[in-house]
Amino acid sequence: MSEPSNTDDNTTGHEWDGIQELNNPPPRWWTVGFYAGLAFVAGYYILYPSSPLNLGIEKWVNQAVGAEVMVNGHTKGIMHLVNPNSYYQGATWTQDDIDALQKRGFTRLVIKAGDPKYQNGWTYVNEARDAIAEIEDIRKPYMDQLKTMTVREILNDPNMKQFALGRARVLFGDNCAACHGSGGAGVVNGSHSFPNLTDDDWLYGGWPEKIVETITLGRQGMMPAKGGNDSLTETDVESLAHFVIALSKGEAKLNSEGELTAGVEQYAAANKMFQETCFACHGRNARGAMRNGDFYTGAANLTDVIWRFGGSFDTVKETITYGRQAKMPTFGGKLDETSIKILAVKVHQFGGGMANEPAPTTQTSGNDAASSPPG
Ligand code: HEC
Ligand code: HEC
Repeated sequence: MSEPSNTDDNTTGHEWDGIQELNNPPPRWWTVGFYAGLAFVAGYYILYPSSPLNLGIEKWVNQAVGAEVMVNGHTKGIMHLVNPNSYYQGATWTQDDIDALQKRGFTRLVIKAGDPKYQNGWTYVNEARDAIAEIEDIRKPYMDQLKTMTVREILNDPNMKQFALGRARVLFGDNCAACHGSGGAGVVNGSHSFPNLTDDDWLYGGWPEKIVETITLGRQGMMPAKGGNDSLTETDVESLAHFVIALSKGEAKLNSEGELTAGVEQYAAANKMFQETCFACHGRNARGAMRNGDFYTGAANLTDVIWRFGGSFDTVKETITYGRQAKMPTFGGKLDETSIKILAVKVHQFGGGMANEPAPTTQTSGNDAASSPPG
């Protein structure tokens, strides 16, 4: 950097690492905008109430013309002279002012001068607080009714469902969206994956009572490394990964006995390993732990196109090699029962909600050992 010097080339003489600063006037549009802005501020100050003067508040209403007047501790502004029926607001609240208001049909509705809430005059924050209190009053009977209803009953009552969904937006945003996304679509990104709640592919089950259970107790998905079978080599894992991907694409198919009906020769060796190790949780037919309607292990369906963690060869190999431990936090202690019900309605309404627990399937899988709820 050099010292400033007088120059003839319209620069300020400042230089930083070879970059010089031009000494041009600001563009005309900028200057015009700048002064227009100043003029607007000055005009607004004169026309509308602006400077606070700490004087409490009164509210006057003209029922006939539906006009409302806030009288508060601010400089008056001259707008009320232009359109006296719809606007009147002033700091100096003289008897003349009151007479004038009354003559125009205004009646005094509330006086809040001296109310500690308004000791700093009327503010939008206080006004908003009042409005919220009013809304809460309207909501209360609905909330009381929600408390007595089950999720199933709420879903069957269009009014209550509508109300619950309105309340759910904020609850879901505050508690769930960080992981599942604001639209509930989840994320598929290896170990940073969160399940999609909007599809009809369920790890634990999508009927109302089950969703409540998931939110209340949380879930701990537990896919052990190599399915718990340490003797599997890297080559074994790779052939299992190819097999699982083939199942998802329909290039390999399993019947309920765990026999291949497609890809019979190509995947015979892989399926042998699968039926020795993986079937315990994913089922003989690899459709996940759905036997007897039992979703408890959360074991993913490996025959669909929906991937919980990702369907590339590398990701599937990683899943099988290292396992996956995904944790859905417990909300039982954090949210009250009504909030959980509201959220269950929302999750059910995302689109994939099931009406009821599915009937037992005929799959003869060996997943008895894995059919208890996660600890
Ligand atoms: C910290 C991240 C996180 C937050 C926050 C979170 N979840 Fe989850 N959620 C998960 C993960 C991870 C799973 C999958 C668990 C597994 O794989 O076993 C899951 C699973 C679920 C499931 C089961 C889906 C199925 O297919 O059976 C539901 C339903 C669910 N979450 C709803 C919610 C709701 C409602 C909230 C907000 C109250 C919420 N989650 C907040 C991470 C989160
Ligand atoms: C003890 C039960 C258990 C065993 C045994 C098991 N899995 Fe899993 N597997 C799971 C669970 C549970 C998940 C879902 C994990 C989650 O959501 O957190 C899963 C997920 C997977 C996924 C991810 C699917 C997706 O959509 O991204 C693959 C792939 C998989 N398992 C393959 C296998 C293979 C291959 C074997 C045998 C070597 C095996 N699993 C053995 C319980 C098991």
